[in-house]
Amino acid sequence: MSGMRVGIVGSGIMGSGIAECAAKSGHDVVLRSRKRETADAMLAGLERSLAKQVERGKLDETDAKEIAARVTATTSLDDLADCDIVIESIVEDMATKKELFAELGRVVKQGAIIATNTSTLPVVELAVQTSRPESVCGIHFFNPAPAMTLVEVVRPITASEETIAAAIAFVERCGKTAVEVKDQAGFIVNNLLFPYLNNAVRLYEQGVASIEDIDEAMKGGCNFPMGPFALLDLVGLDTSLAILDALYEEFKDPNYAPRPSLRRLVAAGQLGRKSGKGFYDYESSGKK
Ligand SMILES: NC(=O)c1ccc[n+]([C@@H]2O[C@H](COP(=O)([O-])OP(=O)(O)OC[C@H]3O[C@@H](n4cnc5c(N)ncnc54)[C@H](O)[C@@H]3O)[C@@H](O)[C@H]2O)c1
Repeated sequence: MSGMRVGIVGSGIMGSGIAECAAKSGHDVVLRSRKRETADAMLAGLERSLAKQVERGKLDETDAKEIAARVTATTSLDDLADCDIVIESIVEDMATKKELFAELGRVVKQGAIIATNTSTLPVVELAVQTSRPESVCGIHFFNPAPAMTLVEVVRPITASEETIAAAIAFVERCGKTAVEVKDQAGFIVNNLLFPYLNNAVRLYEQGVASIEDIDEAMKGGCNFPMGPFALLDLVGLDTSLAILDALYEEFKDPNYAPRPSLRRLVAAGQLGRKSGKGFYDYESSGKK
């Protein structure tokens, strides 16, 4: 089965991961980044990731070359015009995403799916920015996208059956399990996960235990692969703050109100692994 042409907008943690997933499942990928340097860095990162998998015997060298050759990078949104599906994965900010969706609606060919990888924002508000809200849905990958098996397919009230069916088919072709979910903040996973992460920060703020001990407790006591602070740092503290803000905005439940120390770290530019420092210091510990 020949692949589709997949456009990805945003070359951060998630955009890069989704590009790898799509290319591995035989799709041609056009990745749009605003700056040439980031686009090139993303391609170099993909090659490094594939080379590591070859080294570990998880991927054949010829396959790795073919996968890398399927991904191109661009700085122009116009290069996404003939994509069959475009997945937006830029910063979790409604105003920025709305502007982009209006442009995507103008640029991308009719009949294509335009999807957002948003973690929490209302998909319908992005859909109505385009002239064809029936073609817009959420395709929410998890971090790191190549490793995580779940993808939430989010159905805004405006989406057509064809759009949801095509999104599910795309996700399954990527080798992932799709779950369909209504367009409500946090969908399934973040709706349940983020009160837990936020309450871990509250325990730390109350001096109940150290960051390290809370992480150890949840690993050893619940058999979680990582503790809440390691997970917040992996997700990115700016993204985590935006997720909690969106959840709080929707439900006004105090469990979702972001804890002050999370907001302070973001204000200081300490965003977790991606900036080298968050709840943990990855630069001095060499963990990065
Ligand atoms: N980090 C996670 O664990 C995770 C998981 C699932 C979904 N998401 C969602 O994926 C999306 C991207 O998150 P990420 O973790 O990759 O973030 P990131 O910080 O790694 O990357 C954000 C990207 O957005 C770009 N960007 C910033 N401002 C922009 C603007 N004004 N116009 C266009 N592009 C802009 C940045 O250059 C960067 O490429 C968000 O919607 C987030 O909620 C994140």
